[in-house]
Amino acid sequence: MTKDSWYEEVKELREMAEGVPDEVLVVLIGDMVTEEALPTYQTLLNTFEGCDDPTGTTDSAWARWSRGWTSEENRHGDLLNKYLYLGGRCDMHSIEVTIQHLITSGFNPGAEKDPYRGFVYTSFQERATKISHGNVGKLGKIYGDTNMQKICAKIAGDESRHEKAYQTFVTEIIKRDPNGLMSVFGDMMRGQIVMPAELMTDGKDAELYENFANVAQRLGVYTAIDYADIIQHLVKQWDLENIEGLDSEGEKERDYLCKLPKRYRKLAERSMNKTVKCTEDVVPTKKFNWIHGRAC
Ligand SMILES: [Fe+2]
Ligand SMILES: [Fe+2]
Repeated sequence: MTKDSWYEEVKELREMAEGVPDEVLVVLIGDMVTEEALPTYQTLLNTFEGCDDPTGTTDSAWARWSRGWTSEENRHGDLLNKYLYLGGRCDMHSIEVTIQHLITSGFNPGAEKDPYRGFVYTSFQERATKISHGNVGKLGKIYGDTNMQKICAKIAGDESRHEKAYQTFVTEIIKRDPNGLMSVFGDMMRGQIVMPAELMTDGKDAELYENFANVAQRLGVYTAIDYADIIQHLVKQWDLENIEGLDSEGEKERDYLCKLPKRYRKLAERSMNKTVKCTEDVVPTKKFNWIHGRAC
């Protein structure tokens, strides 16, 4: 904005953003809102006993990691927010209200202060965000918005590194305590992995999160199949099939986990078939205050 050419450059950015359909915009906004609730996630990291930052400037590896991770994640929300602000197609007031409500509401992924549970959760979630940003970037390319494409690809690259880090933590846990990790992983997979922005609201639309998630699923940005694929990736990444040193309870959990991706995939395919049928019939389009009440 300090360049003499700022006006032309913003104009160009806006012209390029014009080709992006509303439904893609809604998914990008939802992803941005999720990134902007970063204080909640740093709070979560600091609940993991033994891996926290008790003073705020603690010099342990865990504390340095959590501050470094947070500072990098902070760029994601900032970048997406600036792009959407300059693009001029969103109701930034409604979006900022959503962010404020989301941070106020918080979220509970069921980590129970336990680093094992926490790192299984973050291993899953970083991969989910990588997939989501990556797919939105591809849509940016399809609709000719190279700014959006580059921004999302860059963020997906960061998420990919985060995913590797958390999955490496879990690999190390498995080396030291395979039974402990099997028990936690099995228990978490029996429930649903909670999405970080599940409690989002713009103060008006009671079903905002559901509506956003439905559009993401419809566009193929993040679907039930992705959920199954992430579990499959983790089972493979942590080489569950070949883990040694399991007791009978651990063996049981391992067998359960190894069969899970196939089961989830079947369920996902069935539920997605149903969704397609509904869309063809009468799924009403939803209005989003984020885009001035336009429906998609
Ligand atoms: Fe992020
Ligand atoms: Fe991340």
